Parts: sequence; C-alpha cells; structure tokens
Amino acid sequence: MMNSPQYKALFEHFEKIKNLHLREFFSQEKNRFKEFSLVFESTLIDYSKHRITAETKKLLIEFAVASGLKESIEFLFHGKKINTTENRSVLHTALRNRTNTPVVLNGIDVMPEINAVLHKIKLFTEQVRSGEHIGFTGKGITDIVNIGIGGSDLGPKMVTHALAHYSKKGLKVHFVSNIDSTHLSETLRNLRPETTLFIIASKTFTTDETMTNAHSARSWFLSCGAKEDDIAKHFVAVSTNFPATTEFGINPDNVFIFWDWVGGRFSLWSAIGLPIALSVGFENFVELLEGAEAMDLHFRYTEFENNIPVILALLDIWYINFFGTESHAILPYSEYLRLLPAYLQQAEMESNGKFVRKNGGRVVWNTASVIWGQPGTDSQHSFFQLLHQGTRLIPCDFIAAARSHDPLGSHQEKLMANFFAQTEALMQGKTEDEARGELEAAKMSEDAIEQLLPHKVFEGNRPSTTILMEELTPRSL
Ligand code: F6P
Repeated sequence: MMNSPQYKALFEHFEKIKNLHLREFFSQEKNRFKEFSLVFESTLIDYSKHRITAETKKLLIEFAVASGLKESIEFLFHGKKINTTENRSVLHTALRNRTNTPVVLNGIDVMPEINAVLHKIKLFTEQVRSGEHIGFTGKGITDIVNIGIGGSDLGPKMVTHALAHYSKKGLKVHFVSNIDSTHLSETLRNLRPETTLFIIASKTFTTDETMTNAHSARSWFLSCGAKEDDIAKHFVAVSTNFPATTEFGINPDNVFIFWDWVGGRFSLWSAIGLPIALSVGFENFVELLEGAEAMDLHFRYTEFENNIPVILALLDIWYINFFGTESHAILPYSEYLRLLPAYLQQAEMESNGKFVRKNGGRVVWNTASVIWGQPGTDSQHSFFQLLHQGTRLIPCDFIAAARSHDPLGSHQEKLMANFFAQTEALMQGKTEDEARGELEAAKMSEDAIEQLLPHKVFEGNRPSTTILMEELTPRSL
C-alpha cells in the first residue's frame, strides 16, 4: 500500500500540514466541531481536536477504500475464514445478532446454537440469583470465582466492574487469572466453599494458568469438607473443548459451550460472559448484546465518512504511520471504566501486534500502538505531565459518562470540568505570551520571569478524542 497513489497523496498532504497547530484549525474553521463529531445513540464522539483537515479525512477514506476495507467488513460479517493462520471465521458478531437473521457457516445457520446457549445461561443465571441453586449444605451462592486468563478474564472482568451499579447485592464476583498462587489464595481466603461457585473459563481448556488454578480450587473445595459428588453444584465450565471439561470432572449439564470462530479477546459476548450475566442479570446481559449489535450495524452499513470505528481506526493509522507515534492513551473519567485500558490492550495489541502480513511477508510500516492508560483524575496527578509537556506525541481517548450513577455533592461537576479542561489544555497549550502574562500577574520580577518562562510554556497541539456517553448502561458500554 505504501506505493499506492492513495498513500503517496496522504504523504504529500502530511508534509503540508504536519506543523499546523490545532489552534489555527479552530480559529479558521468555525464549524470544526460540527464537521468532526458524530453522535451514536446517546454517545458523542468528538474528534475535532485531531491534527486533521477535511482533506486529511478524505484522503484517509480513499486509502481505506483502496485497501479493500469495505470488502473486508463484509468478509467478517459473512463468516469468511479471515483468520487465515487458524483457518477460522471471526464471527463474534453473530453472538450479538439479536435480530436473528441467519448467519450461515459451512452451510449451517449458527443462530439456533447461539440461542440455545443463551437460554441455558438465562436459566442458570436465574437459578443462582434467586437462591434456587443451592450448594452442598443447602445454602445459596454468595460468591462466584471466575478462573480464566486473557480473553477469558479481561472482558468479563472489565464489564462486570463497569456495570457494578447493576449488580446484585450479596452476590460477589471475583476473577482469578495469575498462576501466582497469591491470586487464588488471597481470593479464597475469605470465601466459604459451601456458598462459592467456580466458573472455569477457557476457550481451549488447556491453558496452563487456568488449569493449574482450577485444580487448586477443586483441591481447596474438597479439603474443606465437600465430597466429589458436590462438585456438580459448585463447578461450571465455559469452553469450546467439551471433552476436556468432562475429563476435568465438570458435570456435562454444567458446561456452557462456545465455538472456535469466537476469538478469545472477543469472547465476552459468548458464554464467557456468564459471570457478567450472573452479576447484572440476564436482561442486562442481553442489553449489552443489543448495544454491541447496534454498533455492529453502524459499522457495517454506515458510509465511511460517518463511520465511528472506521474513523477512529484511520486516525490511529494517521498518527502511527505519518506522525510516528508509538503509544495511545485510554483515559476513562469513570471509576467504573477503570479496567477498560487493560481490556483494550489485549483487544488491540493481540490483534494487531504483528510484524508479519497475511501473505507471510514483513510489514513495512508500523502496526498497532502501545495501548495504556488509567482513569482520570488519578492519571492527571501521575503521568499527565508527560502528555502535556513531554517530548512525545501521544494521542489520547477521553471517555466519560455525563450522568453519574452515584451523585454526590459537586463530584460529578468537578470530574467533568477536569475531563473537558484537559482535552482543551492538550489542544491549546500555553504560549509564551500567555505564560508571561500569568507570571506578571503574580507580580514576579523580570529576572525570575525570564528564568521560569520556558518551563511554563505548553506547546499544545496534542490530539485527543472525546467520547461522552449520557450514562454508562449495559447498552452504551
Ligand atoms: O495467550 C494467548 C491466549 O490464547 C489468548 O488469546 C486467550 O484469550 C488466552 O490465551 C486464554 O486462552 P483460553 O481461553 O483458551 O484459556
């Protein structure tokens, strides 16, 4: 693609605009916010604070079209085997296909199977949450321990945390992933086997960390007075490898299956989402699926000019390949979204962290950024210094919900004030004149001002996307 006319046009355009400042863009283009923002349901995506012009956007879209993105999107939704190294389809979109339009794979519609597992999740979730499902001493379940790693941990853990507002009181969900025994031991320390339910979550059911933790959890359970027969009430499995689950000793009725066409990092919408459904209830889990489906439809059918995932991806390509950026910060201004950066690390870096092309050749441009981040406002007091005044250019995503689930005094107003102020400050910076004005107003001597001035200047021109939800719900998440 680097030799394509579209790439060359982008390169020539980059040379022309690379030194322009966002301040200039905003002062010259009165409609900039309107032109570079989109609304999806009740979420605003503002990408006006990026170092782009209308021409950049046009050229990036031409580049995407010439690269075959339109065709690739259809291949994805049609179940073409785009995972060429494993010869598999990538059909997690079918898991949230709530309209139930047939999704045919190898001549068979996968929807009936998906719906059967969803029904099983519904029944089990209701039994556990209502107290009907009882442990070996006749008591209901109070604690759920999900044992899994990678996609079998990060997705359900992030969502369960993000939707804690909707969780059932008295039913706590824990996540154990690390092979470091501290993780399991510290989790089990205050739990009682008779009221604990283990979910062994592994696509392959061979991952060493998960199997080691699962065996240790079973030993702990049996060493506390339970019998082999009691395992059925306290251990369930989620996997694509049904034989291995029964070999482990899980009752076949307690196995929730999914399929090899669900990538691990995209599995939270499959039965891997069982801890989510247990925590927030089946209806809320379905809302999560419906929200994802709405975005799938938007992604599939919206022209690239207004297509949110496409535009955000093209911005990444713009910065990585033309500005040479190395990392991308995810900054949720929400405690509920604390685990989002970790989840996105796998989604992005495991998906795109490759130097080999599909055809086996070497990639000659840079692939995905290093994804990192922490919630605001904590991060403002740790690494924001480098974002504002460091030598590197780091595009940032600021994410927040306008309405708090936990209103308290002026907290939300202050949170949102910080949220908006930071994106503005990154964009505007502080010129020498502005910094001098501030120091003069503080009645500093001329000598002191001269000495301090370089340290008070912020170059600005640091790009960010603002993603603002009305409220954090299963659907908007
Ligand atoms: O280490 C890679 C990986 O295969 C991830 O892709 C996956 O999410 C994780 O390990 C866990 O795999 P499994 O669900 O099969 O235990």
